[in-house]
Amino acid sequence: MKCPRHLRPDMCLVLAVGTFTFLLLSSLRESPSICEVSEKPPATPKALSWPTPPNRPYLAKCQANTSVASHPDFDKEPQHIRNFLLYKHCRKFPLLQDVSLEKCKEPVFLLLAIKSSPSNYERRELVRRTWGQERQVHGVRLRRLFLVGTASSPHQALKVNRLLEMEAQVHGDILQWDFHDSFFNLTLKQVLFLQWQETRCTNASFVLNGDDDVFANTDNMVSYLQGHNPGHHLFVGHLIQNVGPIRAQWSKYYVSKLVTKEEKYPPYCGGGGFLLSQFTAAALRRAARVLDLFPIDDVFLGMCLNLEGLKPASHSGIRTAGIQAPSQRLSSFDPCFYRELLLVHRFLPYEMLLMWDALKQPDLNCTKQKHVY
Ligand SMILES: *[C@@H]1O[C@H](CO)[C@@H](O)[C@H](O)[C@H]1NC(C)=O
Ligand SMILES: *[C@@H]1O[C@H](CO)[C@@H](O)[C@H](O)[C@H]1NC(C)=O
Ligand SMILES: *[C@@H]1O[C@H](CO)[C@@H](O)[C@H](O)[C@H]1NC(C)=O
Ligand SMILES: *[C@@H]1O[C@H](CO)[C@@H](O)[C@H](O)[C@H]1NC(C)=O
Repeated sequence: MKCPRHLRPDMCLVLAVGTFTFLLLSSLRESPSICEVSEKPPATPKALSWPTPPNRPYLAKCQANTSVASHPDFDKEPQHIRNFLLYKHCRKFPLLQDVSLEKCKEPVFLLLAIKSSPSNYERRELVRRTWGQERQVHGVRLRRLFLVGTASSPHQALKVNRLLEMEAQVHGDILQWDFHDSFFNLTLKQVLFLQWQETRCTNASFVLNGDDDVFANTDNMVSYLQGHNPGHHLFVGHLIQNVGPIRAQWSKYYVSKLVTKEEKYPPYCGGGGFLLSQFTAAALRRAARVLDLFPIDDVFLGMCLNLEGLKPASHSGIRTAGIQAPSQRLSSFDPCFYRELLLVHRFLPYEMLLMWDALKQPDLNCTKQKHVY
């Protein structure tokens, strides 16, 4: 295919690959065994979005369940609730970026599965340079993955998909699915990750699931986990109990009665960061298969644990509800404070770097109080 002059050569390659994929898929139509597999390619060509990688079954866009819209209260709900209700049955999405088989070939002790929004490039870079470095810690292997979806606007999707492709090539740590990366789709992201892990990294002893704006003291985490058996139940984080759905529409956490009529959530751990064992990952996977998706990801995992008869637990070193320095006088930037913790929420990218650097200083002396910044 000749490249028109107004297009950059790499864009031309995209178009060429897209056209090739389209032709390939038109000729090799998969048998429609599941509802998401299309009989026909979509009428609107996918030329504007990143092409589906070849050799994977082609998944048509999952259709909205329009029967939910017939409920008299449906139109009164905010857009994201309506979207959630219309699409919550959709669970199969093409993987746009995958990692190499090498990732989990050698036994992985701690797999970092970090939820990131497509455009959070700086956050991912800083995690890579600091606590998320793939390395040996206390003699065991640590591996890193970023879990991402895609942007909802086609123009933005084209850009972020290209960015993530570049990151995947350079760092080999991107798992990207073709769904809109929104707050109410975080549960979908979680479930897709657990499914991926079942076949691709099931032998990881432990998993840290967290956000890209946390500071995780991965050395401490490994020490803590080395005292646990991956074959036993473990699910620890910032424990939240005795709460229920927020019914005020202005709240980010608003959950409509059309989503659940329950007024209580089972105990769960805040989604900023929590640790789980191989045993518990398998249990969550089982439960997630039978439960309806619930739009708040951390609550959904609480529901899964509940179904499996398991309980989440609290770890005092995981602080996802803001920084709670032990005293007013102790600066929240005192590295000696973080030295004892496993994970703290809400770090800016540059703060991650400063803290990581301070913790790595060989002469960090915590016998006297110290303010670095
Ligand atoms: C569509 O929504 C209706 C009403 O909520 C529900 O009964 C039905 O099971 C849903 N269909 C799918 C495929 O999820
Ligand atoms: C979740 O992603 C799907 C697929 O991109 C999209 O149709 C749906 O609107 C999204 N849901 C929400 C609540 O953003
Ligand atoms: C995972 O562990 C099981 C049992 O220890 C072993 O049989 C299997 O080969 C391992 N799988 C991989 C991919 O290493
Ligand atoms: C740490 O500081 C204390 C108090 O200043 C000092 O007594 C101690 O020797 C120092 N320890 C190290 C390892 O430098």
